[in-house]
Amino acid sequence: MRLILLGAPGAGKGTLAKELSGALGVVHISTGDIFREEVAAGSELGKKAKGFMDRGELVPDDVVIGMVRQRLARPDCAAGFILDGFPRTVPQAEALDATLQEMNAPIDSVLDIVVPEETVVRRLSGRRICRTCGAIYHVDNKPPKQPGVCDVDGGELYQRDDDKEEAIRRRLKVYAEATAPLTAYYQQKGLLKSIEGVGSPAEVLATALKALGK
Ligand code: AP5
Repeated sequence: MRLILLGAPGAGKGTLAKELSGALGVVHISTGDIFREEVAAGSELGKKAKGFMDRGELVPDDVVIGMVRQRLARPDCAAGFILDGFPRTVPQAEALDATLQEMNAPIDSVLDIVVPEETVVRRLSGRRICRTCGAIYHVDNKPPKQPGVCDVDGGELYQRDDDKEEAIRRRLKVYAEATAPLTAYYQQKGLLKSIEGVGSPAEVLATALKALGK
């Protein structure tokens, strides 16, 4: 299965993608996670991306598109993949179409996770992430057993720099302007399925699997 997850910042794309990846047996590709790894490693790509990310702006299309093309060429994508956070602009979606056409591997479905804006802001301001394994928590909705410590591997939990109020507001604006038009793009191609992202992560997973006919 080749799947794209759309949805506002904080809609729950990363949380759902991790669950779906296990359920469907395909790799989870998050452009945000790749950029955060590059920033942590201090690479050239990370240095290019950091300022845009901290301000809540999009990294330029050419940088992201090149990175995703390389990632999709790796053997673990042959069985399928879940794209989380890409595409985010119409030019990115067109570049993805061209790449997948070359690979003879069209997208099967696009899930748009719909969540009210006030829920999204609450989710983002309470989010915590494990520095070592990337597990996602929330101080109220999904707290770790011990505050600040990952249940999975004991790693340190941190708050993303772009989960501060000013950057959250900027990200929501950028989403409305640059990314929301992608729902019409994929609707026209007959690929779009909208699902409610409110409810527990297990309920959202069940809704997603049903929408995918699984
Ligand atoms: P990215 O990392 O992709 O951030 P985002 O799209 O803003 O999405 P988030 O990761 O914030 O939210 P999410 O929907 O994954 O929610 P999550 O599951 O974590 O991108 C970051 C930055 O990188 C961008 O701003 C940009 O600069 C750059 N970038 C990345 N891709 C790019 C691209 N293609 N082009 C250009 N630039 C790019 O959940 C959020 C919280 O809610 C968590 O605490 C979670 O525990 C909780 N939660 C989730 N689901 C539920 C539920 N059902 N019930 C209760 N709580 C829930």
